[in-house]
Amino acid sequence: MGHTPASVLILYFSGTGNTHFAAKKLSEHLNKHGIRCDIAPFELGKFDTIKNYDLLILGFPVYAYSMPEFMKNSINKLQKPKTGAVYIFSTYALHPGNALRKSAKLLKNSGFIPIGYGKVKMPGSDGMLFLKKESPYIKKSKKIISSGFNSIEKIAIDIKEIVKEKLPNLHRGSSGINSNELEIIPPISLPSIFIEALIIPIFKIIERKAKKRFYADEKCNRCGICEKICPSKNITVTKEKVIFDGRCYLCLRCIHQCPQEAIQIGKATVGKYRYRGPFQDFNPLKILSN
Ligand SMILES: Cc1cc2nc3c(=O)[nH]c(=O)nc-3n(C[C@H](O)[C@H](O)[C@H](O)COP(=O)(O)O)c2cc1C
Repeated sequence: MGHTPASVLILYFSGTGNTHFAAKKLSEHLNKHGIRCDIAPFELGKFDTIKNYDLLILGFPVYAYSMPEFMKNSINKLQKPKTGAVYIFSTYALHPGNALRKSAKLLKNSGFIPIGYGKVKMPGSDGMLFLKKESPYIKKSKKIISSGFNSIEKIAIDIKEIVKEKLPNLHRGSSGINSNELEIIPPISLPSIFIEALIIPIFKIIERKAKKRFYADEKCNRCGICEKICPSKNITVTKEKVIFDGRCYLCLRCIHQCPQEAIQIGKATVGKYRYRGPFQDFNPLKILSN
């Protein structure tokens, strides 16, 4: 690498703002540490610039103890950075299970060198849309966010070390380095295997049912924002109605972002809390149009 500062790309997906926030904060920390850092939303699919960076950082929210399915399905479309190395981080609400381990293995099988990982506990945007606006969990979420700050800082320090100590060895031209020695796969959590085996099938049933129960209620004014921000292009807004198709990722972005709070899953979300990221300022419309 000589004296050129290392460059990293954070490619992330964020349904409701937590992972976007973590990615942004992380990039600020890394830039402060003298590492050139860009961030890009995964859903724009601009994977052709990855090869220009020294390291890829992949960020995602944990969905049912895994990386979101659509991201997993796109891993083989990702280019490799100059070193082949990837660092992964996830945001999660309660229990990430073996999500990071499974993701690291998936990336390894696609030819990447998993070089580190980190996790950030954040408010659970999946549960919050069923809670009353004055619920104690909503109040507690501020504390969760500030503990998340610390995790992001730790991840930044971890990456700084990796950039300094490991990346130079992975650059082409380094001889005698076995990349297996540098790779890091998160250790297996045995209790999680049992919990996951039990809960994932239940989760899949709930997921299937929930996706069928999306609708826009009488508050909808057909503004069309949901259609524009849906990462799976699952929503069509006509003059008469809002149509939810079968491609939903269940990221919940449309529900949390609807300015009228008109999108519901059955009756349970009517009048309940809406989450727009750690500082209530997550604006995917703006991010995606930049
Ligand atoms: C469909 C779905 C499944 C989820 N599954 C889990 C899970 O298995 N474990 C967990 O701790 N959090 C889970 N969560 C919570 C999210 O991981 C957490 O809120 C995350 O920070 C959301 O990130 P985002 O705001 O960037 O979309 C789930 C959320 C959704 C929407």
